[in-house]
Amino acid sequence: MSAPELLDEYAAPPDQETVVRLQGISKSYGDQVIFDGIDLTVARGEFVALLGPSGTGKTTLLRILGGLEDATSGRATIAERTSVVFQEPRLIAAQRVWRNVVLADRGGAARKRSALAALEEVGLAAKARAWPKTLSGGEAQRVGLARALYRSPELLLLDEPFGALDAFTRRTAQDLVLRLWAEHRPGVLLVTHDIEESLLLADRVIVLGNGRIQADIPIPVARPRDATAVDFNDIKREVLHRLGEVSSHASR
Ligand SMILES: Nc1ncnc2c1ncn2[C@@H]1O[C@H](COP(=O)(O)OP(=O)(O)OP(=O)(O)O)[C@@H](O)[C@H]1O
Ligand SMILES: [Mg+2]
Repeated sequence: MSAPELLDEYAAPPDQETVVRLQGISKSYGDQVIFDGIDLTVARGEFVALLGPSGTGKTTLLRILGGLEDATSGRATIAERTSVVFQEPRLIAAQRVWRNVVLADRGGAARKRSALAALEEVGLAAKARAWPKTLSGGEAQRVGLARALYRSPELLLLDEPFGALDAFTRRTAQDLVLRLWAEHRPGVLLVTHDIEESLLLADRVIVLGNGRIQADIPIPVARPRDATAVDFNDIKREVLHRLGEVSSHASR
């Protein structure tokens, strides 16, 4: 294997409208190549869904975008204000909800007001002084969203944030994310296993598989959307087809 040339730049993008620009990003763990030569651009205000079989590197890609992991090679230019929401909310049990929103920010009284504003946005102002263990799964996930919003992200990375929620709570959480996105217009990259969810929410669906972006499928359907609408059938067929291709290849 050639020596890795690491050129990751977590600097402000060259133009304000681009929040992600990946050029030839590769990632390996030892001999295991996770992906090789990923190119991806996300504009501010764009909502992108990322689908792909388990183990294809979706979380790894998000961790690289969030600055939590280094790429092995390639060039990554990513918005400075980037927030990540993981599948599990990762709240600190010994800290009240509002402190979980501000985390290490020591900005004085203003930070509490900002935390309360973020909690208000996700409908949890009343829980600001509650302990994490008294929250339901959906509420805890909304605290995770408030924590992300608190940083006024230009890029919001969501790694299966609704995976553990029941169908009704999931719908409510999807509506909330859509509303917050419409209000604040960050670029969003949402990892999901749920095709319906990607069709309901995203402007584009990206299919990751076999170390590459295998498809980039636009969803030119006006919002609010109804996933059962006829317009979706062709797009859904295309996404299923591309996912089927990478899944059958991966299981060979
Ligand atoms: N720190 C690590 N060290 C070694 N291998 C790792 C590490 N993190 C992830 N991997 C491997 O990288 C591959 C991709 O993992 P990743 O978690 O990104 O997949 P994923 O697409 O998010 O899967 P899922 O849909 O199950 O969440 C897996 O084979 C995993 O075992
Ligand atoms: Mg994952």
